[in-house]
Amino acid sequence: MANVEIKYTKLFINNEWVDAVSKKTFPTINPQDESVIIQVAEGDKADVDKAVEAAVKAFQRYSEWRTMDASQRGRLLLKLADLVERDYKYLGDLETLDCGKPVEQAKTEVLWTTTILRYYAGKADKILGNTIPADGEVLSFTMKDPVGVCGQILPWNYPIPMFVWKIAPALAAGCTIVLKPAEQTPLTALAMAALIKEAGFPPGVVNVIPGYGPTAGAALTNHPKVDKVAFTGSTEVGRIIMSAAAAVNLKRVTLELGGKSPLVIFNDADVEKAANIAHRAAFANAGQCCVAGTRTYVQSGIYDKFVAKATEIAKKRTVGNPYTDVQQGPQIDTEMFNKVLGYIEAGKKEGAKCVAGGGRFGNVGYFIQPTVFADVKDDMKIAREEIFGPVQSILKFETFEEIVDRANDSNYGLGAGVITNDITTALAFIKHVRAGTVWVNTYEHVVAQTPFGGFRESGIGRELGEDGIQQYLETKTVTMELPKKPLL
Ligand code: NAI
Ligand code: MG
Repeated sequence: MANVEIKYTKLFINNEWVDAVSKKTFPTINPQDESVIIQVAEGDKADVDKAVEAAVKAFQRYSEWRTMDASQRGRLLLKLADLVERDYKYLGDLETLDCGKPVEQAKTEVLWTTTILRYYAGKADKILGNTIPADGEVLSFTMKDPVGVCGQILPWNYPIPMFVWKIAPALAAGCTIVLKPAEQTPLTALAMAALIKEAGFPPGVVNVIPGYGPTAGAALTNHPKVDKVAFTGSTEVGRIIMSAAAAVNLKRVTLELGGKSPLVIFNDADVEKAANIAHRAAFANAGQCCVAGTRTYVQSGIYDKFVAKATEIAKKRTVGNPYTDVQQGPQIDTEMFNKVLGYIEAGKKEGAKCVAGGGRFGNVGYFIQPTVFADVKDDMKIAREEIFGPVQSILKFETFEEIVDRANDSNYGLGAGVITNDITTALAFIKHVRAGTVWVNTYEHVVAQTPFGGFRESGIGRELGEDGIQQYLETKTVTMELPKKPLL
């Protein structure tokens, strides 16, 4: 295990490090060996109240933040990107300690977030309204105002990327923030908070409150002075957040929730290439990925060859200590570990054919073998529910019309993929599939410039790209009477 120094374990309010009002702390666990890494201050309602007060104050009309030039907000984001780049090795080591992902992957993700910070830095002074040829003797135009104080609630699967996806567009838009990282992974959010202070963001603009969902998270969603909540996590909690937001003050809501994304491979595909794309789609980040392509549909002409290749690749996947050169570390915690193993048992019980893996890996830490099920049927649990672990389900299909219906037969609609060299097949799939992102001959290509989010129960709103910043803006329509007669 790497020797990673932990510098911050307190709440970050008003650019200061403080204990929880209750003085309580909670342990954050190393998923590699199940040990306690360190105790972290546990935020609850009283702390959220303090943080919201700081964020409200930072948003007041003559505050430093509200009177700052938009271009200067951009410069602060650029500075933050430079600091993240300066510290990326440290941040990657810390990320791996807290969430168990392979350390090279963690470092790559940290560097990737600088592209998002810089993208939104550039947008800060390019937030435009319209002039509108309105009926009547009037001049009408629109302005974009920041939505206000934002509550942001994060998951544990990509802690630093999710932190940046949330804060970058909100800050470019001129909002202020109270952010709650997932209870499993508070450490890098606090390290990022220190960089926000170092970059020179004024006090109260970003506040970070580690703590649990039903306490700190609920306090944020139930707070009447929070204007918007942005959440990534389970559909179940997404529903709770949306109803709380509706009941309290109709706060704006963006939700990035689960998925059960289909990846459809046609007979004309190169089997080896397709099997590799499908493998990455299902197993990236130990399967702990909202957009994971976990329903692998393969046309009958290449089905047997594909299953053999997919099995071979999964069996070669390296699992173990995430500080070594492996492809897969542990699952995040004991709850998720047991949940994934439960799905694997369900797959076996319902009659799917387990052709690779199928159980725990080792006997310490939350490691699971890369698992492949073939001959999966659409109504099996492993084909319908989000597993969030290293499990691929392979299903057979015959025709285009059949597979579009089957691919769409899900409450979710986050991602979808198609592998074919036939342009007509690809275009027809793009047109008819119901998903927020469609990848053709690739998968999980997610970058700063392109919007990301889901149809149906996969969420509401989009992150990244121009759509991402629009979720932090309100449109203000201005209509002015024009002079009706000649001026003297
Ligand atoms: P979760 O939805 O319970 O947790 C995500 C975040 O929401 C955490 O910060 C948590 O503290 C917070 N939260 C929980 N209850 C809350 C409440 N009542 N009010 C406000 N905030 C609350 O997700 P969990 O339990 O970690 O994982 C459960 C399932 O969710 C996974 O098996 C997976 O299917 C899905 N998931 C999806 C993710 C995605 O990227 N879309 C990320 C993480 C989990
Ligand atoms: Mg939960």
